[in-house]
Amino acid sequence: MSHPLEQLRDEALRGIGSAPDEQALESVRVKYLGKSGSVSAWGEQMKMLAKEEKPVVGKLLNDVRNVVTAAIEARVQQFRSQRESGALAKIDISLPGTPRDIGALHPLTQMWERSIEIFRRMSFALADGPDIEDEWHCFDALNTPPEHPARNEQDTFYLPDGRLLRTHTSTVQIRTMLGAPPPIRVISPGAAYRRDELDATHSPQFHQIEGLYVDENVSVADLKGTLEFFMRELFGADTAVEFRPHFFPFTEPSLEVYVKSKALKGGERWIEVAGSGVVHPAVFEQVNKARGDKAYDPEKWSGFAFGLGMDRLAMILFDIPDIRLFGQNDLRFLRQFA
Ligand code: PHE
Repeated sequence: MSHPLEQLRDEALRGIGSAPDEQALESVRVKYLGKSGSVSAWGEQMKMLAKEEKPVVGKLLNDVRNVVTAAIEARVQQFRSQRESGALAKIDISLPGTPRDIGALHPLTQMWERSIEIFRRMSFALADGPDIEDEWHCFDALNTPPEHPARNEQDTFYLPDGRLLRTHTSTVQIRTMLGAPPPIRVISPGAAYRRDELDATHSPQFHQIEGLYVDENVSVADLKGTLEFFMRELFGADTAVEFRPHFFPFTEPSLEVYVKSKALKGGERWIEVAGSGVVHPAVFEQVNKARGDKAYDPEKWSGFAFGLGMDRLAMILFDIPDIRLFGQNDLRFLRQFA
């Protein structure tokens, strides 16, 4: 005859085996192993047993508890894997996957990266300045007198406090020279703002790369060599570069830069891409005055500066007909540069 504990065990194992789900299984566990479950009750009864019976029944009780616990654990695992394979069965592996959109750099950003890379090879470092500026950095320090038309409210966005959105990145020339003595060799990519009507070739926000090179004996020849190298790296070896006299208050002489290249669509005609020139001594004097020293002595130092129109360069390089496309966030446009 089997011991009542063994009968209890077999009963529990049957209950576990026939429990249809995890909830039913939990009731079985409580019924036998819970605090007032029938297996646990045997622990209490132990006290009343005769001395010689205690070790035998104690061992049996332990075995029963272990066997029942293990059986419950095994059944839980069974339920779990049933659930998982049920979920897997619902996946139709013949369905096409969900395509994930891969981002790409904006054409202007691509243009910037290419340009920066070329100037880096010529040892230009990156400089930066704020988009919101004051009149001094944007005009006065750049030898632009108060009556100059660029300072007009029709041309410049002024803030109520008198500050303004910089009309060119040339402000960074000044900030760089205030921050460090010569020699200087920097470029500064960034946005500039003018009160232009938005059309296919004008935008109130546009983008430039400013360049500034100050050292001993810097001449127009250095300026031309640098920009010619840049344009040929960008547009190909057969790119022609032309410099035409112009006027900027902060350079003397001042030159506008034109390119022409058979490699470019519509590249048969000259296209204006930059303003440039030899830094005006008056700019150095303004910087010296603000620095309170003679670090930029125009007798000792000379330099050249340029401002490349990035929107224009990107439009030429990628054959983009309308500047407004850069800002419209139209994926049909942007995807073409991925
Ligand atoms: N700041 C000028 C412009 O925006 C370009 C320029 C830069 C000209 C540096 C000369 C030297 O038109």
